[in-house]
Amino acid sequence: LLMVIMGLSLNVMAADKIVLGFSQIGAESEWRTANTEDIKRAADEDPDIQLIFSDAQQKQENQLKALRSFIARGVDVIAFSPVVETGWDTVLQEIKDAGIPVILVDRTVTADDSYYVTYMGSDFVEEGQKAANWLIEYMEEQGRGNEQINIVELQGTVGSAPANDRKTGFADVIKDYPNYKIIRSQSGDFTRSKGKEVMEAFLKAEGDNIDVLYSHNDDMAIGAIQAIEEYGLKPGKDIIIIGVDAVKGAFEAMIQGKMNCTVECSPLLGNQLMQAAKDIMAGKKVPEHIKTIEGIFPQEVALEEYPNRKY
Ligand code: AHR
Repeated sequence: LLMVIMGLSLNVMAADKIVLGFSQIGAESEWRTANTEDIKRAADEDPDIQLIFSDAQQKQENQLKALRSFIARGVDVIAFSPVVETGWDTVLQEIKDAGIPVILVDRTVTADDSYYVTYMGSDFVEEGQKAANWLIEYMEEQGRGNEQINIVELQGTVGSAPANDRKTGFADVIKDYPNYKIIRSQSGDFTRSKGKEVMEAFLKAEGDNIDVLYSHNDDMAIGAIQAIEEYGLKPGKDIIIIGVDAVKGAFEAMIQGKMNCTVECSPLLGNQLMQAAKDIMAGKKVPEHIKTIEGIFPQEVALEEYPNRKY
């Protein structure tokens, strides 16, 4: 009898759980892996949440399928990190018609904000601005503030919010400094392998003419470091390198003197996501933007900060 009662109460508990469907982009970077792990951990530790996790392998069509399957399963809340900003209106309308609340995690969309309850994540424009401001100060400190500074830019996934916004934020700042010029800019799709490949092409075209690499994430910067070394130049010295994310790999590169700075973008959104799902289901008011608070780490602090890094 005891077993039956226990079994029944477990069923009631499972039935009481909030079913959260989450469509992840893929596993393109250290950042993304840490983000996935954190979301799964937070869901595992939360007795009120049942997570249905779906990996889109960096394809929007897979995300669209996942979102529609969440509707069909009748989940309580849908969350997703949109791989690109556009092309979501139809599916968001379908989700709205099904009466399911939506949480945007990490990236934004161009669709009307009435389609989602909240967006949790970073201000990518601000990250781009931080990268540019750091560069300008650093060059001044080096006595190079008035030199012609040639920058190559490795962009993230074409059409994604972090690629669009990190580009905009950086450009906004350097436009007031006519001696800073972006001489090449191309997508490396946020991956190490593509970052390396595109950097090889930049070096082939520009040779020793490159002063700075601004990379929209650390993984592409790490790939580019390899390309720079293979070309026979010293990353972090001959070419100043700035990344975004502040993943452990960037700290290791900075400790070795191969990278100069990384702007933080935290992937640790799991607890916030579970809380937002529970608040929404409890009818509580949730802020429209749950903004992540982030810093910036230059090479000088890398050794000291490394042990504190969680991703
Ligand atoms: O959307 C966040 C970005 O996506 C990270 O900066 C990048 O590393 C990831 O792939």
